[in-house]
Amino acid sequence: MLLRRFASTSTLPPTIRQLLSSPQPTSPETKVQLSGWIKSVRRQKNVTFAVINDGSCASGLQAVLKPDATPHNLTNGASVRICGNLVQSLGRGQLYELHVEAVDVLGECNPEAYPIQKQALPVEFLRDNAHLRARTDISAAMLRLRDSVLRSLHSYYEAQDFHYVHTPILTSNDCEGGGETFRVSPVSSSPSSGQSPDSSVQSEFFSKPAYLTVSSQLHLEALAASLSRVYTLSPCFRAERSQTNRHLAEFWMLEAEWAFIDHVGDVCHVVEETLKNILRCQSENALLWKDGDGTKLRSLEHASRPGVPWTRMSYTDAVKELQKYHASSRVGFEFEPAWGRALQSEHERWLSEQLVGGPVFVTDYPSSLKPFYMRANDDGQTVACFDLLVPFIGELVGGSLREERSSHLVEAIQRHGLKEEEYGWYVDLRKYGSTPHGGYGLGFERLISWMSGIENVRECIAMPRWAKRMLL
Ligand code: 4AD
Repeated sequence: MLLRRFASTSTLPPTIRQLLSSPQPTSPETKVQLSGWIKSVRRQKNVTFAVINDGSCASGLQAVLKPDATPHNLTNGASVRICGNLVQSLGRGQLYELHVEAVDVLGECNPEAYPIQKQALPVEFLRDNAHLRARTDISAAMLRLRDSVLRSLHSYYEAQDFHYVHTPILTSNDCEGGGETFRVSPVSSSPSSGQSPDSSVQSEFFSKPAYLTVSSQLHLEALAASLSRVYTLSPCFRAERSQTNRHLAEFWMLEAEWAFIDHVGDVCHVVEETLKNILRCQSENALLWKDGDGTKLRSLEHASRPGVPWTRMSYTDAVKELQKYHASSRVGFEFEPAWGRALQSEHERWLSEQLVGGPVFVTDYPSSLKPFYMRANDDGQTVACFDLLVPFIGELVGGSLREERSSHLVEAIQRHGLKEEEYGWYVDLRKYGSTPHGGYGLGFERLISWMSGIENVRECIAMPRWAKRMLL
């Protein structure tokens, strides 16, 4: 049997990407073995060409087979193990090809029934087939992009002496105070168990309500008070009902927090450095951007140019600019901009796409618009915070200095109508060796959307969840 011809080794056999990036000198005696899925088959009179990919890279590898050695069930989507010689290709478009000696079809795939056909498939169809979606070239490229972005993030933070830490998913508070938390309880204490509402708190698994985290920030602050510089990438959950192309109910947030920082501009600086470093490292662009008209890609390239600092402007100035435009333009905005009102998505996009033409940090929002933990500015009206707005996405990052003065913090907790007893531990951090500190949170799917040109964050995560949609 074919499989016996390949003696098992203690290490994993090379992937197609590994083979192609450092091909061994080949001779007719030098054989390679690889496994993957058939992406296309072209049967000709004297030869069969099949592209095989194991997902390790975008291109895959062309396999060349003799017609009489081509199994009838070698079809698009079938999984195979192939043995042959890797040789330089005379054909266009590839450096190497595999001259196949033996092929095993491990898993057949009926080409008539297989939902993942070669032609471009509608987005909705792929959402309905989320379990098969990763088999499309675009989705696989997006997943590899997530992976390479993460690796460059880790190496950037390592170089800055940040520690990668893990924070809880189950929490007792709503960090953002936005009321978008999912509450968690064991199945046995659900309303159908026949308990009265009063008895439900007593029967809570943790003796108090538990929620899925909306942000790791508060826990990160506790760890930054020991390790100085920490970051995490964590799933976050928000019972967000908006059906937009930038909101998910479950998304991943990169959050960093560090001690001994006095100016919100310094937090912006770290965010800018982090992002420029990532933008330089991306690898899957060619595939992901092929359908774009180039506008978004040019704006992204402009943003990643070293030595060109990103614009910063205060919320107050941003509102003035928005008002000027609203008053002078025939079209204006749907929502009238006014100091003290939240910036709407249309405002955010106008600021980054029209006014600035690139990423812009909007700083020092009114305290009434922001969560309780942000450090109060001396003007008594605003807080030391920022949102980073980027073209075609809007808000990508939110961050701030944190209120490190316990009396100010307690006052803010009260002003926001929060229960003091629930934040006792958080106030404690300010009682014992408090430090000026700050940090930020970056929506990972929005970053992938910005970097790839994929328009909706639902296509920037393998198995998206949003209101009324959780298929698997
Ligand atoms: O602005 P947000 O709500 O900030 C925080 O949660 C802070 N505690 C973070 C921190 O300072 N450590 O969220 C941060 C980012 C947003 O800028 C956005 O990119 C992303 O998280 N985000 C979402 N992404 C997808 N779907 C959602 N429903 C999102 N909500 C926020």
